[in-house]
Parts: sequence; structure tokens; C-alpha cells
Amino acid sequence: MLLARINDLLDRRWLTNDGPMVKEFERRIAEFVGVRHCIAMCNATVALEIAIRALGLRGEVIVPSYTFVATAHALQWQEITPLFADMDPGTHNIAPAAIERLITPRTSAIIGVHVWGRACDAEAIEAIGRKHGLEVMYDAAHAFGCSHKGKMVGSFGRCEVFSFHATKFLNTFEGGAVVTNDDALAEKMRLMRNFGFAGYDRVIYLGVNGKMTEVCAAMGLTSLDSIDEIIALNRRNYLAYQEGLRAIPGVSLIHYDPAERNNYQYVVAEVDPDVAPLRRDELVSVLHAENVLARKYFWPGCHRMEPYRSLQPNSALLLPETERVAARVMVLPTGQAVTPEVIQTICAILRSALAQSASVRTALAQRT
Ligand SMILES: Cc1ncc(COP(=O)(O)O)c(C=O)c1O
Repeated sequence: MLLARINDLLDRRWLTNDGPMVKEFERRIAEFVGVRHCIAMCNATVALEIAIRALGLRGEVIVPSYTFVATAHALQWQEITPLFADMDPGTHNIAPAAIERLITPRTSAIIGVHVWGRACDAEAIEAIGRKHGLEVMYDAAHAFGCSHKGKMVGSFGRCEVFSFHATKFLNTFEGGAVVTNDDALAEKMRLMRNFGFAGYDRVIYLGVNGKMTEVCAAMGLTSLDSIDEIIALNRRNYLAYQEGLRAIPGVSLIHYDPAERNNYQYVVAEVDPDVAPLRRDELVSVLHAENVLARKYFWPGCHRMEPYRSLQPNSALLLPETERVAARVMVLPTGQAVTPEVIQTICAILRSALAQSASVRTALAQRT
């Protein structure tokens, strides 16, 4: 299907600039999510930057520290200060009570992030936004195909941003999109995505090149055709890990609420240092030694990355849960290339390392 679509677009010689594949992709995403507008972009980082600018955010914006650094960078890039709120350790999402503590007269907005596809407490966040006159938008990079209280992620706040990067379960090689029910905001973002052009020779906004190409949209449409199968496979892998890790003390997987729609694209394990005989970092080293690409996430937290570390050197004091969870989380490999047999092997490696923790610790120490 992908190759047929690519042949089509090559025959048409319409390679970018709001072509028919991008239009179809936007229509299908908006329909799937149940929103009025989808504006496809070259990636989610640029989509965040455009959404932030189109909403007129300024001053300070409250974000979680426990997120991919692009959430914070999209603000700082425009000289808006991201202020980092702590997380709820039960969901890994921004804690509403932590947001309230950070509000100052300079605050213009809150950006929630639906970490691992599990939706933020949108009701509480939006109530805070209303109470203090703040805009609310979401970084939904992880959460395409997920729901919150039965409503699809994508329809919360003023707008939400999806990522379709190659590492995401629905990908356009590189890509992203903003979805919204706000007609005027959607129109503004469409113009900003294309240098501010409102006609052949008429530029009415400051804009950028945020366009998605036709070949990327072709990939996205092809992935959309089999989205149910891809999610089923992610769920199969998640369940296989759950089974494989069941009897391992101190290592537990995060849960996805079966009453919601989930994409299961992240298999997230927490290693409890009080129970497991090896630390998260040691387990990641063991897996890397066996060529298993487990990753620490979102280690060490945005507040410990530059430029935030230098600009806000004391922010860790307000982020105890973020610090604790970032030291425990390990994301395990999944996706179409990972079979249940591979998962059994990964779980066996973990089991065997933990059973021989003393000798593993010595061997790791000798390697460094
Ligand atoms: C939470 C979050 N926000 C933003 C991004 C940036 O997405 P992109 O790579 O499409 O720019 C990512 C990428 O992984 C992400 O995880």
C-alpha cells in the first residue's frame, strides 16, 4: 500500500505544500479523534512551537519536568520560561496541586503532557486554567489513539499536539499534528505552518516552514489503515512482558486502564530500589550488554538538562517525585520487530541478573 501511494504521488509530481495525501491524512486524523481540525506538520516539536505562538503564550508556562525535552524547548526557543511542576507518581503525569504552587503574575499557560499515553487529569488542570485565566494545551505526543473518560485524547484544552516520529506506533517517518476544535486558531496555525502565506503574494503573519510532505502523509495513511492491528500487537507485547515479569520482585509494569482506549506503545517498568537487589541503572547496563536497548526515561528530567539546569538551578527542590521516578523507570523494547519469544528472553535476562545480583554488580563494576 505504501509503495502504491508513493508511486501515485510521484506520478502526480505533487511532493509537498498541502497536497492531496496530506489533506486526506488530516481529514482521517480529525475524524478518528473526533475534532474539527487537524493541521499536519513536519514534526511535533515544530507543531508545539507553532501552537504556542498561535495561542500568544508569553512570560512563564507551567510544564512537567517529566517529559521529553522538546516540550520545554518549544517554549524556551521562543524565550518563554518553562516552569517545571512535579508529577503524580501514580500516573507519571503533571500533578495539579504542583501547578497551582508555580502560578505567578507572569504565567500565561499550562501545557500538560499525557505521559505514556495515559491522559492527564484534564478536568483538574482545566479548572486551574479557568480559575487563573490561563490557556491550557497538551503535548499528546505519546497519546494518539488513547482516550480519557471515554473521550479521545486530542479534544482537550485549546489544542493538542501529536507526534508521528518513527519511534511512535503510528508514524510518518518524521511528523506531527495539532488538533483543535477552535476554527480561528486552526486557521492561524495553517498560515504559520506555511510562512504566513494567505495567498500567492500575501503574507499576513510571521510564519515558519512546518509543512508535512506527501511521502510522510503516505506513510501515515498506510499506518492508519492498520492501526487496530498495530495496537493489538503492542498490547500482545505488553501482556507478554507482564507475564514474564510477574514473579520478579521489585520490577513492575505501569498499568493501562482497561476502561479506556490505550495504544500500549510504551512498556514501562519501575524498578523499586528498596525491593529489587539491583538498581535500575544496573539492569539497563545488563540489558545493554546483551544488546537489548532498554532506556532510562525521562532521565534525568528536563530540569537537569541544559539550559534549564543553569537557568533554574534550584528547581529540583520542588520536584521530589520527578527525581524519584526518573531514577526508577526503564522502558523496554516493543513494537512490530519484537516477538513474544524475544520478550521471554529479555525477561529471562532480568530474572537471571536479579538472581545473581552480587556477581552481576561486581562484573559491572569491573567494566567501568
Ligand atoms: C512528550 C514528547 N513531546 C514532544 C516530542 C517531540 O516529537 P517530534 O520528535 O515529533 O518532534 C516527543 C518525541 O518523542 C515526545 O515524547
